[in-house]
Order: sequence, then structure tokens, then C-alpha cells
Amino acid sequence: MNIRRFLTIIAFAAALAAPRFVYAQTNENKFDGNNPYTQLIPQPKDVYYDLNSPCFVLKKDVRVVSNDPFLSDYLAGHIKNLTGEKVEIIRWEKWKSAKKTIKREHPVISILIADNAAPEGREYSLEVQENAIFIFSNGYEGAMSGIQTLLQLLPPQTYNFNNRDFSNLIIIPQGRIEDSPSFRYRGFELDVSRTWRPAEDVYKVLDWMAYHKLNKFHWHLTDDQGWRVEIKSLPLLTEKGAWRGPDEVIPSSFGSGNKRYGGYYTQQQIKDIVKYAADRGIEIIPEIETPGHSAAIAGSYPEILCEFPEDTSINETGFSREIWCVAKESNYEIIEKIIKEMAEMFPSGIINMGGDEVNRFNWEKCPDCQALMKKMGMTNSEQLHFYFVSRVNQIAKKYGKKIAGWEEIMYADDIKDNSLIYVWHSKKWGPMAVQNGFDCVMQAAEYVYLDMQQSPIERGHNWARVIPLEITYSYDPIKLASAGKDAGKAASNLELARKHVVGVQAGLWEELGNRPENFVEYQMFPRLCALAETGWGTSRTIADSAANYKYFYDRLTQAHFARLENMGIRFRVPYPEVKAEPVAFTKTDVLISESYMRPYKITVTPPYEGAVVKYAIVSPQTEIGNIRGQKDTTNYKYVYTEPIITRDIANYRFATFVSDTLHSVGVAVSNMPLQTVRMVPHFEIETNMRASEKNLSILKEYKEKAYCRFEGRAKAGDYITFVFDEPIKCSVIDIVTGRANVDFYGLTEGYAEYSEDGGAEKRLTAAA
Ligand code: ACM
Ligand code: ZN
Repeated sequence: MNIRRFLTIIAFAAALAAPRFVYAQTNENKFDGNNPYTQLIPQPKDVYYDLNSPCFVLKKDVRVVSNDPFLSDYLAGHIKNLTGEKVEIIRWEKWKSAKKTIKREHPVISILIADNAAPEGREYSLEVQENAIFIFSNGYEGAMSGIQTLLQLLPPQTYNFNNRDFSNLIIIPQGRIEDSPSFRYRGFELDVSRTWRPAEDVYKVLDWMAYHKLNKFHWHLTDDQGWRVEIKSLPLLTEKGAWRGPDEVIPSSFGSGNKRYGGYYTQQQIKDIVKYAADRGIEIIPEIETPGHSAAIAGSYPEILCEFPEDTSINETGFSREIWCVAKESNYEIIEKIIKEMAEMFPSGIINMGGDEVNRFNWEKCPDCQALMKKMGMTNSEQLHFYFVSRVNQIAKKYGKKIAGWEEIMYADDIKDNSLIYVWHSKKWGPMAVQNGFDCVMQAAEYVYLDMQQSPIERGHNWARVIPLEITYSYDPIKLASAGKDAGKAASNLELARKHVVGVQAGLWEELGNRPENFVEYQMFPRLCALAETGWGTSRTIADSAANYKYFYDRLTQAHFARLENMGIRFRVPYPEVKAEPVAFTKTDVLISESYMRPYKITVTPPYEGAVVKYAIVSPQTEIGNIRGQKDTTNYKYVYTEPIITRDIANYRFATFVSDTLHSVGVAVSNMPLQTVRMVPHFEIETNMRASEKNLSILKEYKEKAYCRFEGRAKAGDYITFVFDEPIKCSVIDIVTGRANVDFYGLTEGYAEYSEDGGAEKRLTAAA
């Protein structure tokens, strides 16, 4: 043990009580419902406990002793949720001079931040004794982490600021935790451009991050669909660029509908949020997207664009001009204005300047960009991107900032020593970044893009893949970044990956953020709990990966779900597995009818131990899951306790309930044995819109998941007519535009007409 640290502890502890450093039992990495040391997320590095000694008892008269004003208030505020009483706070210096002894009747929790206070190689230690709890930390972040660990050792109501159910007996067994993260960067990225999130929402996200020991908030503040940060020297950015709608510079998109939609943060709001985050040990890294994804600024200040004759071609997002001209010197002046004000708002040493998905076709048409290429001897328009990044880097340096950007910026000149690369195509760019000596944050889309679906029956993208919790938990950023074609290469890459991968981050893009109302929480949790453990470096505590995941899943479902619920997070609850198998024929069955439906036995496997599964009996057409993100109005009346024998297996829907109001999506029998016979009437399609024959023929296939992609966006007056050979009798017409799981390609305005007899049309007024 470091002698200085030892002396600090002795000096401190002498003023409190004799510390115990040795515990009889060590952590066995196995969940135990009676032992809070086995219920922590992220799992700390070293955990020792002793279940046989007298426990620490948290009483109403507990006092917090600390040398940090915010941390003591923060801890005391959470403890008040348990005791219902205001907690007395005593400054460490005052406490020390008073030399009070501690009685069991009067427990104390102390937080000390001091040089070498934590054990060597660790960021903090947490020691629970009979009469006192000590957190020792070398720095502020470690103390915050220590507090978070302590909160998790307490009952889940510690997170509930509305708690009224105060318990008399709150105990923690004696123990000791020595802990530090493996990655210094543990982040979460939120896109507030595609869906506007007001400041209150951001505060909540920061709270949730802190509870999970995540320490970097990457704030995606600008994109094509909205500019969200006040820049006083460029007022149109927020007067115009923060809004989309019918008469705005940005067209409606992503479900924002036929109205003005948007918002932005004032500089004062940003400063308040930055301070709130810093108090919780979180650094905010802002992102301003350049040179692509810039339709919002281009709508406000069109002079940033390349100038060339009108081109009516349009890209998939609906913008033909959304990229900064590289050749205009005035553009670098505008960027400087932005960086200057951003530097005043954000103390972070890093400013993220985007750089992904640069749609270079404007540069290829722009005479000025072409002239610049020629002058600089460039042979490829990608070099214009690198030139732009280098120029932006020079500006950032002037304001004392490193630039960060997506992997696409990596080959810009002279940025290596002043940049941080965010890798999103991990297999290719992870190894590329570390081999080229770039510090990087691994944000691999196929593990931690939280806008991806959590299962095929839930809403979300799936272009990276469907990402269930297990996949996020299996994320190994070092392994990805060190992949090499041969063993030797992989080994040397491993060294490089350990050196250059500074951390991990999950991201939530918000094209789909318009619904459901709890979209952010639902997509974040519990996958962010898995990411937290990856970032802490304890997601591979047990060598056997199945046992390892089980340990995490037990901690999550048996302890952490209750914490999440008390934090007020409407998280994604796993749904049960529901199977049916035929019941053996009986004589009675045969006698009832020749054309009977066979009886089946429906068996439900709850998704975790102790999960409550309820069910409803509905019509067989009732949609399964929540793929459209709409409110589930099913009345799950019955609690499932034993297998159900029924002939109507298509009529049952099951959901896992965490509380009366928080449940999973509803699921039907997953191995439905009877195919409903579907009559498929013949029809032809007439449309004025362009699509390939192959695409159009998809419309006629009656496949639920198939969709026809038209070229370009639909305009007023566009139509598709389904012409049936003869009138069709039906009770419901379901009109689905776009893909069910990513509906933003669908129409938001439109109407349907139908004709009963091939003659006059009737108009349906249902909203699309
Ligand atoms: C990205 O997903 N375009 C960084
Ligand atoms: Zn240009």
C-alpha cells in the first residue's frame, strides 16, 4: 500500500473509527438476492464482503461528512429519499477538528477526495463498516463513482424523489470495494436534431448516465433536420434553422407533420446543462455537423453552399444542397464564429465537427471547388473533404480545442495529434484507426446504435442489425479494433488497440424519435446498462461467456430493473417466449365435429426469474409487438400461472409486467402452427410515380415485410390505384406507407378513395 495514502486513511479514520481491511469472503461473481455486493451494474473491479459481521444500519440521523459541497448534497438528497429526513452535512475539516467518536446510533458516511486517497491503480474505494461508510477518491470523478456504487448498495427507492414509503431498517453488510474503469471515455450520444429534446429531457439523460458511471455526453446538436444551439453572431441559425414545417427553410420530416416543429437551446441553457453535467462527473462534447448533414445551416445561410446551375436531383433525405462549399474563404470565417461561441459555452477540450456521410456531388459540380482541386493538385473530391477538415482543425486549435469527427475524417492532413476519431463502421475502421495511430472512441453501429430494433417485432432501424441486449453486452471494442488478417498482425494490433481505443460510446439517432413517447428511454435501457459494463471493463468478468451474461442478466433483472423503475425510466421490458404444441386427440374431440380445430397447449417461458406474465384474449388480427410504436391498448387481464389449453391459439397475447404501467410489447404464440387461409384477390396497380417493375411487383406479393420503393418523395397529386377484378368484401382497409419499423419513409399526409362498384369514389378520411 502506498504509504502516503495509508497515512491519509489512518489520519482520517482515526477521527472516525478503526477501519477493517480484511474480509472473510470475496466476490464469487454469482448473483445473490440477499447480498447487495452481487447486484451492482457496472460490476466493480474488486469486491470483498463479510455477511457475518454486524451490518451498517442507515438511520434517519445519518450524517454525511465531505470536503465537497456538491457531492455531499447529492448523496444527502438521495439518502433523504430513503429516510424521509433531511440529512445533516458536515464539512470534513470541521469534523476532523471536532474529533467525534462514532456511535452505532449515529452513523456517518464520509467522502474524502485527496491525493493518493484511493488504493494504488484504483480510482476510488468504498468501505462499509458497522458504524461508518468511507469513500476515498483521488479525484472528483472517482468520488462520484463511489457514491454511485453506494447508491446501488442501498434500496432502489434511493433513486425515487417521489418516494413516500420510508422503511425503518436499511442495512448494508460490511464490505470493501476497490474500483476503477478500464476506459477513461464512457459515452452516450444523443441526436437532438431529428427529434427536438428540450432541456428537461437532457437533464434526465444526464442523471441516468451518472447513475451508470458514464462520463461523456456527446451532444449531436445539428443535422439536416434542425440546428439546436444559439450562435449569437449567426442569429438565423435558430430563427430559421431550428424549425421545420410548411413555410420553413427545412421541410417537414420524421413525423413532424403539417406544422412548425423544432426548438433550440439558448446559450444560458447550454451553460446550465454543462454545469449540471460537470457536477455529475460528465463532460459534454458538442457536435456541429460539417461539411455534410448541413441542410439546417444551409437553409439559414445559403451562402455557405457551392454555386452552380440549378440541379433538380435530390438525395434520399430530400436535400439536394446540404454541403458546405470548400472553396469559399468566407465559410471558414463562419466556422470560426461558430467555434468561437461553442468554445465559450463548452469547456470540453474537444469539439466534434462531424464529417460523416459527405455527399460530395455538389463539389464535383462547383466551379470554385473544382478550381481549388486543380490549384492544390488534388485528384479526387475526397481530398477536398480532408482539406476542409484540416482547415477546421486549424481554427479549433486557435481556440484550444482538439477536433473530433466520425471515421471519415481520418485521412485529413496534420490532425493526428489533435483529434479523436469516432468509429462507427467498426470492423473496417477500428483496426484502421489504431494502426494509423489515431485515438478513437469505438461506437460500433452493429453493437451500440440504440436506434436499431431490439427485436424484429419492435420499432427501430435494422440496417446495422437487430440489436438485442445480448449483442450489446457482447461488445468487445478492443477485439474489434485489433482484428487482423493473421495472428501476428492481430497481436500487434492488440497493443495498438489498447493504446488508442480511449473508450466506448452508444448512440441514439432520432429519426424515429417522434414516438412512442418514451422512445429515448426505451431505446437506451437496458442496453445502456450493458454498455456501462463494457466501458467499465467488467463485461468479461467470467471466462465462460454464457455464465458471464447470466450474471449480468441476473443483476439486471433481479436488482437493477427496480432501480431503473425508481429512476423513473420507462425502459424496454423483455417479452416472454410463448410456444404451442398440439394436445393429443381424445375421443371427445373426434365426436364433436369432423372439422374441429385441434386443441393446443400454450406454454409461456417468462423472460427472467420471477417475471410476471399477463395475457389477453383478443381478435386474431390484433397486431403483435409494437412495430409501429403506438400505444398498446390491450387489456392484459389475466395473470399467467400455468399452460393454457385452447383451440383458439391465435387469440392470445402475452406481456411481461414490471409494474401496472410498465410492460413489454405483447406477443402471440411464436410457433403458430395453423396458417390462416388467406384469399388473395387479383388486382393491378396504376400509379403516376416511378418505381422499377421489380419494386412494383412487390406490392402485389402480399408479403407483410416487403415494401415497394418509389424514386423520390411523393408530391401532391401522386397516386397509386389498386384495381381489383371484382368488388372485394372487407371490414377493414389497412393502408401502410413506408416500412412498418422505420415509418419515416411513409406518407404523413394523404387520403384514400375507394369505389364500391367501379364507379364514383368515396373518400376515406383516416390519417395516414
Ligand atoms: C453515422 O452514423 N452517420 C455516424
Ligand atoms: Zn464549392
